[in-house]
Order: sequence, then C-alpha cells, then structure tokens
Amino acid sequence: MSDEITIAVAKGRIYKEAIPLLARIGIVLKDDPEASRKLMLDTSWANVKILVIRTTDVPTYVARGAAELGIAGKDVLLEYADDNLYEPIDLGIAQCRMMLAGLKVAAPVVDRPRVVTKYTNITKNYFAGRGQQVEIIKLYGSMELGPVLGLSDWLVDLVDTGNTLAANGLVTLDHIADISSRLIVNKAAMKMKNALIKPIIGQLADIVGDGS
Ligand code: ATP
Ligand code: PRP
Repeated sequence: MSDEITIAVAKGRIYKEAIPLLARIGIVLKDDPEASRKLMLDTSWANVKILVIRTTDVPTYVARGAAELGIAGKDVLLEYADDNLYEPIDLGIAQCRMMLAGLKVAAPVVDRPRVVTKYTNITKNYFAGRGQQVEIIKLYGSMELGPVLGLSDWLVDLVDTGNTLAANGLVTLDHIADISSRLIVNKAAMKMKNALIKPIIGQLADIVGDGS
C-alpha cells in the first residue's frame, strides 16, 4: 500500500477558500497552479498531492479511488450521489442556497411548468417530493435567462447574495437546500489508509468545528 494521499479540490470559488483551510493544518501548496501547467501539485507534506479539477469531476475521482480525499460543494454531491463516498465534515466554505426562482411578475402557473437547471437530479427529487409534474430542461449555465426569455417558467440554481436574480427581474419561490463545501473520503481508502487519513479529518474538523 502506498503512503501517498491525493486531495481533489474543486476549481474556482471552492479552491480559493479550501487552499487556505488546508494551509491552516499545515498542507501548504509548493506549486503555484497559476504559474504552472502541472495538474498534480506538490505540498509541504511530501506524501500529500493536490489536484485542482472541475467541480463536477471531484466526486468521480474520489469515488473511484483516483484521489483519497476531495473537497466539493454539497450541490455537486447531491447531484452525483455515490455510495463509495463518506462525507465526514462540513467545511462551511462557499456557502449558498439551492433555490427555486421565477419571474417577479409571473404568468399564471401552467399544468406542467418548465424548469431550467444544471441540477436535473436535485430538481427531479425536489418536485417528486412536492408531487408536482414538471418538464426539466438541462442548461449548463446562465439559468436565469430561462424565465426571462420564455424558455421556462422557473429555474433551479444556486443563490448567494441574490444579486443575479434581482438584476434579471427574478425572485426566489422556494428554498431547496443549504449548500456548503464538504470533505469527502473514498470508503476503501478510509480503511486501507486510515492512519494517514484520520489525522487529516481530525485536524480539519477541529479548525472548522464540525466533527459529525
Ligand atoms: P464549472 O465552471 O466547473 O461548471 P462553476 O463555474 O460552477 O464550475 P464556481 O462558480 O467556482 O464553479 O462554483 C463551484 C461551487 O461553488 C459550486 O458547486 C457551489 O458549491 C459553490 N458556489 C457556486 N455559486 C456560488 C455562489 N454564488 N456563492 C457561493 N458559493 C457558490
Ligand atoms: C452562480 C450561480 C448564480 C450566481 C448566484 O453563478 O449560478 O448565477 O452565482 O450568486 P448571487 O446570488 O450572489 O448573485 P457563477 O457566478 O458561479 O457563474 P456561472 O454559473 O456562470 O459560472
């Protein structure tokens, strides 16, 4: 068994908050991802490497054991649920809410409303829970345009300040889930590399105050 630990970190907002968190437990990047084309970054811990990858790829790398640990948004974890993952810590970073939203001045609700989202599974489960038939239209970004252009009645997306909704004449209609980033762990690695992984979980739990 190798004593290497690879941590897959979601690019973008999560990366910006996750790297300082890892630094607080002594895992400091030695490579600068802005200056280098290296995809596996060295850290101050000789046996710990960091991958900075697309947020939706993080659960795949960790569930399949290509990385032992990962940091991903709860939105992505809800959307791509996988039995091979533990989710031991809520890191409390990149906080926002998954919301249903629509036009401020809306047309009457139709029988089978159309909903744009990139979170099709979350949206399907949410409306199944409400017992409501909808047509889900998958988009990859700028979901706010759906109701504005008449492509849909509603949208399901992340909301933080609410500025994007407000700037497009939209309002929130329902709260679907609170979102923040979680530490995820490959289940097999948790057993095989417990002596290496447990202290990392313990130290992160201590600094974010979550040991659930
Ligand atoms: P990609 O380009 O890979 O599709 P993205 O553009 O969605 O990713 P980011 O905007 O950096 O990437 O968001 C990644 C994660 O950050 C989301 O999965 C979510 O957990 C969190 N997040 C997204 N939007 C917000 C927001 N407005 N405020 C706080 N956290 C957010
Ligand atoms: C996210 C999300 C919303 C916006 C919400 O988009 O998809 O559009 O943030 O944040 P707010 O409530 O503070 O306005 P992001 O900025 O990541 O853009 P992208 O999805 O186009 O990458």
